[in-house]
Amino acid sequence: MHTFTSCLCSTRVLLCYRLTVMASSAMMRLKNKVALITGGASGIGAQTAKAFINQGAKLMIADIQDDLAQSLCNELGPQSASFTHCDVTNEAQVKQAVDSTLAQHGKLDIMVNNAGILKQSSTNITEVDPIEFEETLRVNLIGHFLGTKHAARVMIPGHSGCIINTASLTSVVGGLASHAYTSSKYGVLGLTKNTAVELGKYGIRVNCVSPYLVPTPLVKKFFGLDDENISKVYSTLKGGYCKPEDVAEAMVFLGSDESKFVSGHNLVVDGGFSIANAGFCIFQDTE
Ligand SMILES: NC(=O)c1ccc[n+]([C@@H]2O[C@H](COP(=O)([O-])OP(=O)(O)OC[C@H]3O[C@@H](n4cnc5c(N)ncnc54)[C@H](O)[C@@H]3O)[C@@H](O)[C@H]2O)c1
Repeated sequence: MHTFTSCLCSTRVLLCYRLTVMASSAMMRLKNKVALITGGASGIGAQTAKAFINQGAKLMIADIQDDLAQSLCNELGPQSASFTHCDVTNEAQVKQAVDSTLAQHGKLDIMVNNAGILKQSSTNITEVDPIEFEETLRVNLIGHFLGTKHAARVMIPGHSGCIINTASLTSVVGGLASHAYTSSKYGVLGLTKNTAVELGKYGIRVNCVSPYLVPTPLVKKFFGLDDENISKVYSTLKGGYCKPEDVAEAMVFLGSDESKFVSGHNLVVDGGFSIANAGFCIFQDTE
């Protein structure tokens, strides 16, 4: 009798476990989707890779930091994540990254153009070095253009797909970063809108995400800020600062079918920073 009861109990536990696994797998927001993420070895791209895997996607990481990308793939599971060396300024390498994704997974559903740089440069326009300006545009804008071009090439025949560009709050507000960086991100916003219009007829959505300050290697190095200092820059929304996870969640939303009617949109992730006027505000800080 005792053996029968304990057997019944363990069968119930197993059934519950199976139902939970089935339910959570059914709830995965990117189940059966294949994504390619440029600049996926570090910061926002790496966090997006983790979030995509957690939501059931398979992915290819394209980056120039081979060792970092490879160890991230090992952590994520070689069955689900793989790496290809790709400098986004090199069209042949971008084409190869897209083609390898197809060769490995049979399709490309989500292209995340995320690789970017932020170089130390003069804030005085009369002193800005044109070579440095061009270098920033090459990575941040041409890189997004090449990624969009080759993703579209393979998405158009299937009449579906989704392209997500990492822009920045500098695409909305002036004076936050260098002239080159700001110009590149304004360019990304323009590219997003224009390609969203062109590719809409093929069922391809194009959107961008615009974070404010996120403590990644790029920003920490540029501004010399740690997490505590970064939290002081945020003023509107209680709860610290924007973490890579917050941006990754926005990427998951734009990559999933939850946003199936959202295209040409710039999803600002800044805790409301850009809607407040820092110079004049009737709401006093009472806490
Ligand atoms: N961190 C922020 O506060 C912030 C805010 C707004 C926008 N962004 C944007 O987010 C994106 C990711 O930046 P992050 O903050 O995670 O920085 P990060 O430095 O952690 O990551 C950038 C990644 O891009 C890769 N990369 C750089 N040049 C490349 C190239 N030519 N080809 C391929 N890969 C290249 C790097 O190796 C790195 O892995 C960038 O486009 C950046 O402009 C960042």
